[in-house]
Amino acid sequence: MYKIGVMTSGGDAPGMNAAIRSVVRKGISDGYEIVGIQRGYAGLLSGNQFLNLKIGSVADIIHRGGTVLLTARAPEMLEGENQDRAAELLKGKGIGKLIIIGGEGSFRGAITLQERGIDVIGVPGTIDNDIPGTDKTIGFDTAVNTILDAINRLRDTATSHERIFLLEVMGRHNGFLALAAGLAGGAESILIPEVGYDIEEVCKRLMHGIKRNKAHSIILVAEGAGDVYKIKEEVSKQINSEIRVTVLGHVQRGGTPSAVDRILGSRMGAMAVDLLHKGNSGLFTASRGEDIVALPLEQCFKGVKSFPEKLYQLALVLSK
Ligand code: F6P
Repeated sequence: MYKIGVMTSGGDAPGMNAAIRSVVRKGISDGYEIVGIQRGYAGLLSGNQFLNLKIGSVADIIHRGGTVLLTARAPEMLEGENQDRAAELLKGKGIGKLIIIGGEGSFRGAITLQERGIDVIGVPGTIDNDIPGTDKTIGFDTAVNTILDAINRLRDTATSHERIFLLEVMGRHNGFLALAAGLAGGAESILIPEVGYDIEEVCKRLMHGIKRNKAHSIILVAEGAGDVYKIKEEVSKQINSEIRVTVLGHVQRGGTPSAVDRILGSRMGAMAVDLLHKGNSGLFTASRGEDIVALPLEQCFKGVKSFPEKLYQLALVLSK
């Protein structure tokens, strides 16, 4: 079969469009027909979301955030009968090879399709950077820079009003975004699920700053670390300073992709085509230092991505 399907699935991430563009253009140059499947697995299961993509279909998208193929969360793909149906729908359209750009949940869906005879390659796209095996996921760099921009703005007002700010950023299960942005933005404390938090310690650090006449502080709180409003209450009880909460929310998922994410998307998309062309399946593209390598999809589910303890310790020392 000379058709490659491509879809984005789960939360969108800046740089996904660069990956789609790369799959389309590399795939066509290697002699494939490329079929875009809109709205991820939900679109696939609806059976009517297939688009033939030409070279021109992906013009003017490399600089755009989000995904032109649209995306969705599709819990229905956890059910065996939907997995059967998805594979049958693909085969019915002559699509024997599929590239899935998304996070861990998307990769789980990919494995079920592989088990049903579709050649699949995953491309890690999520702002969370939580896929084990790859140093970076597409979208992480842009999101970190978006958070950094928010920190810079908050710092202006925090300094002027001599206030403490709690900034909640995404990361349901991990603190990669909070840690990277917190280190780069000089946050006074970084609360992440991997470490948990101790209110006494947070307050001690704040008091340390106050004693040296530093009346403003920014504390980064990863979504999964705890309820940011509860943390505010707990800190308020112990520190006699004004505290404000900002929840950044989905702002950090949009925006123009950084050069890093465009290049990562372009490299990984092209490599995914290459892997399929050489007869591979069940792999995902992973960044390792300067290289992009291919790893088994199963590897993503063996444990969680280890958190960079050294960076965390460095952030603690530098933000005293
Ligand atoms: O998986 C990416 C992510 O942005 C998480 O960081 C966040 O917790 C979640 O998606 C939010 O999901 P939704 O957009 O479905 O509310």
